[in-house]
Amino acid sequence: MSDFTLDTPTQEPGLGTAMKIVYQWNYEPEIDELRNLYVKAAEAQWVAGREIDWDRTIDRDKFATTPLGTPLPIEKTSYWKSLRPEQVWEITRKTASFRLSNFLHGEQGALMVAAQLVNAVPHTDAKFYAATQTMDEARHVEVFARYIKKLDEVRPIASGLRSILDRILATDNWLHKLVGMQIVIEGLALFSFKEMRNLTEEPLLRELLTYVGRDESRHHAYGVQYIERCVPCLSDDEREEIEDFAVECARMLIDIRSSGLFNDILKVWGEAGVDPNELLLCINAERDDLLRDMPRGQRLGPVQGFVIPTLRRCGLLSERVAAKYHEFLSANPAGNAFGKTVQEFLRDLPDLPEDTAAWLMGEAH
Ligand SMILES: [Fe+2]
Ligand SMILES: [Fe+2]
Repeated sequence: MSDFTLDTPTQEPGLGTAMKIVYQWNYEPEIDELRNLYVKAAEAQWVAGREIDWDRTIDRDKFATTPLGTPLPIEKTSYWKSLRPEQVWEITRKTASFRLSNFLHGEQGALMVAAQLVNAVPHTDAKFYAATQTMDEARHVEVFARYIKKLDEVRPIASGLRSILDRILATDNWLHKLVGMQIVIEGLALFSFKEMRNLTEEPLLRELLTYVGRDESRHHAYGVQYIERCVPCLSDDEREEIEDFAVECARMLIDIRSSGLFNDILKVWGEAGVDPNELLLCINAERDDLLRDMPRGQRLGPVQGFVIPTLRRCGLLSERVAAKYHEFLSANPAGNAFGKTVQEFLRDLPDLPEDTAAWLMGEAH
């Protein structure tokens, strides 16, 4: 007898959403850059089971180079250096499976939002592009799940990430969905994938992040190109509402990084025999040295280093919201705001890379 059922034990009760679906009767190309991106995406499709050799086992020695992704580089502390190689492997493996699990769940969120965008965006070119992104995100879910299975086990989604995905899935405003997913979540993903892809020497992980990263840089381009077209058409009130939605999503991200995620990671480390108190004492004692040695891009983090510059490019960074970003980034120890005033903060924001795909592969700044 088949064990196929309509209700599966791993599914959740449905989340009520308020999305409006838009038919569009104009089928002619209208936004050339999006139509080109759609063709580029169609040409760049890849098949995970064919392009990547999954028979390889994970190279343990090389895997030790995989970054932990904490706001401060814990791997540079004296505590870390005192650990035995066996413990380093255990901690790196568990931390990576925790991070990759959240990438995986985030990809599922991206898959569902991309599918919603097909329904909700009003322009045909934008619907076409969102269709290709939906396919990309399905593949990303597939590859992260396959890699985690080799490494450890899938861990549950971090609660903060779940809240932000729910917020983006539930809104009825397609521009909010675009800004929340394509700019804030994709910005965080690009930043994290770049760091992991360029630092890890584990060949299978590096290869899959190369494939995923190429797709993600297109997703980011879609967000930027579409939103910068739309923003000048908005009334002041509409624009302010979207700016505030972006602030809300970015603030949630900062909170996830500084408190939620770090506590979850400490729990994971406890499983590998690390004493969290000892580690925290060591981080506090060595904090200044750790900060001094960090490259500027890493010190800035994903929100300041990538998400806010993207919002500026899209026309969604007025002085009014810049003050809000400056305030919460300054108040947050992991936020690391540069500049004492809003004007200094704006002046010191980095520019977006000219070629996002090259930047992601570490070939451009
Ligand atoms: Fe993705
Ligand atoms: Fe994406």
